[in-house]
Amino acid sequence: MRKKIVAGNWKMNTLPKEGVELAKGVAAGRGEVCDSVEIIVCPPFTHIAQVVEAVEGKNVAVGAQDCATEVKGAYTGEISAEMIAALGCKYVILGHSERRQYYGETSESLNKKMARAYENNLMPIYCVGENLEEREAGRHFEVCKQQIEEVVFNLTAEQFAKLVIAYEPVWAIGTGKTATAEQAEEIHAYIREVLRSKFGAAAEQCPILYGGSCKPSNAGEIFSKENVDGGLIGGAALKAEDFLAIGKAF
Ligand code: 13P
Repeated sequence: MRKKIVAGNWKMNTLPKEGVELAKGVAAGRGEVCDSVEIIVCPPFTHIAQVVEAVEGKNVAVGAQDCATEVKGAYTGEISAEMIAALGCKYVILGHSERRQYYGETSESLNKKMARAYENNLMPIYCVGENLEEREAGRHFEVCKQQIEEVVFNLTAEQFAKLVIAYEPVWAIGTGKTATAEQAEEIHAYIREVLRSKFGAAAEQCPILYGGSCKPSNAGEIFSKENVDGGLIGGAALKAEDFLAIGKAF
């Protein structure tokens, strides 16, 4: 049985006080979601420590939204994987399309970030996904394959066992336009096949999350698909009630 995961990517939202309130709300209702579903919140760096404290002992894991390519040193403004791990994070989102699009994230930088994450026992949530133009040209399979081959294929079997993948079609992020459950299943199954070609049977254990306008009203149908193991949630993760309702969709 693959791990089921619902992760909230708060992006650049919430001030510390609001983030702590949100985390407390998630922790308070966590019991309504099946224990076997891993619930993760990913706040901005500035209040990770407070959020870790707010969810302590509540079976809610905390992740960061990015980490630096380098270990430590003269890199003004950067946050290292070691710092994130020291605050109590278990996960780190890497390769989100917003970072690829707005901050020049490439496979080269992502290979370094993945290495830093593993050195610090952080589990990466590695994001892949095509944009609208690529989808319309029917190139979504090759785009996802390339994003996986250039980064995930460099992992050892031991590292791969700790990886989570998130498929997030760029055209569905924050647009209210969701991939249909069939579209999600089609590409999730394809991604698993790509993973199987490199890692064999271990690919069956890798959670593949769907992300892109996922909300309480559509999560149930999307999560019912065989190769969809949960969601990476943006907007709907900013309300504890909605986020928990998505968790309950399993
Ligand atoms: P939305 O759920 O707001 O579309 O965002 C999805 C996402 O990018 C999660 O990482």
